Amino acid sequence: MKKLLSIGLALTMVLSLVACSGTPTKTETQAQAETQAEAVAETTKATAKKVGVCIYKFDDAFMTTYRNALQSMLEEMGYQVSVMDGNNDQSKQNEQIDTFITQGVDALIINPVMTSSADVLISKVKAANIPTVLINREPTVEQMAEYNKLVYVGCDARQSGTMQGELILDTPNKGDINGDGIVKYVMIEGDPENVDAQYRTEFSVKALTDAGMKVEMLDDQQGMWDREKGQTIAANALAKFGDEIEVIFCNNDDMAIGALQSINSAGRKVNENIYLVGVDALDAAINEVLAGNMTGTVLNDAKGQASGAVKAMEDLLGGKTYQSGSQSIYVNYVKVTPENAKNYQ
Ligand code: GAL
Repeated sequence: MKKLLSIGLALTMVLSLVACSGTPTKTETQAQAETQAEAVAETTKATAKKVGVCIYKFDDAFMTTYRNALQSMLEEMGYQVSVMDGNNDQSKQNEQIDTFITQGVDALIINPVMTSSADVLISKVKAANIPTVLINREPTVEQMAEYNKLVYVGCDARQSGTMQGELILDTPNKGDINGDGIVKYVMIEGDPENVDAQYRTEFSVKALTDAGMKVEMLDDQQGMWDREKGQTIAANALAKFGDEIEVIFCNNDDMAIGALQSINSAGRKVNENIYLVGVDALDAAINEVLAGNMTGTVLNDAKGQASGAVKAMEDLLGGKTYQSGSQSIYVNYVKVTPENAKNYQ
């Protein structure tokens, strides 16, 4: 503040000098304005609150969109932001958290690598008394209850699973392409350690059975959220089960885009003789939905979650604390079909 006042004073002096010495040339005025802008930027940098952001791994399609949205939002609001890549390694992320704590960050936003190990990172931020927002990978209520300056911002993955099932129920034959009364499907799962994968797997199928459909799982494999793995799993399943496969459920879009390549190579046609659904509404997936190459997807609202995380962080910085059982803030998913896909491009 003091520094800001002295800069203001210096600027007033410069301006009065200019006033006394007559009209300066345009170049002088510009130079003075530039010096002033630089001084203000330096001061802002020195007084800006520091936010450390830990991402489970940069090489993840959805988390790249999310990370970019979060970083630009924080920077536009004047925070000094540093973003770290956990490389899908929890011990590496723990070290990054330690470094942020040593550097004296004001707040942390963490996308945990392994929610099963969230206790470790929660005890670290608690010991350092740093307000912390967890994103994208939700720990248990019990884990979060350990620290009242901790909040989770994300989505309820059950909802996305249910919506995937509904996308199939909305097709003319409710997923039963050959009309034998059974929807035969292949499930391509994300990282099984992550509740998003567990719930999407469970609730997509549950939506079908709740609607009275009979289902049969032909194959269920872990694609770890990865496009290439999605492609390989789909290729193997198509080679093994051929026309029997009526639906391929993918826990996310990147794997669905991989699966689509294998569907095309196998000479199958989405929405004619096979259905394909994902989650995230990545730009690439929206284009495929519009082109009729994916049955649908579910918007995983990266911008909505990023702004929710920033808001929660500011509340914590303002002194807000959370009680056990109310430490999760959810943003809604949205079903994306050829009819509304344009709105999410
Ligand atoms: C999910 C998203 C996946 C992947 C995962 C990482 O919410 O749908 O694509 O990014 O998070 O935890």
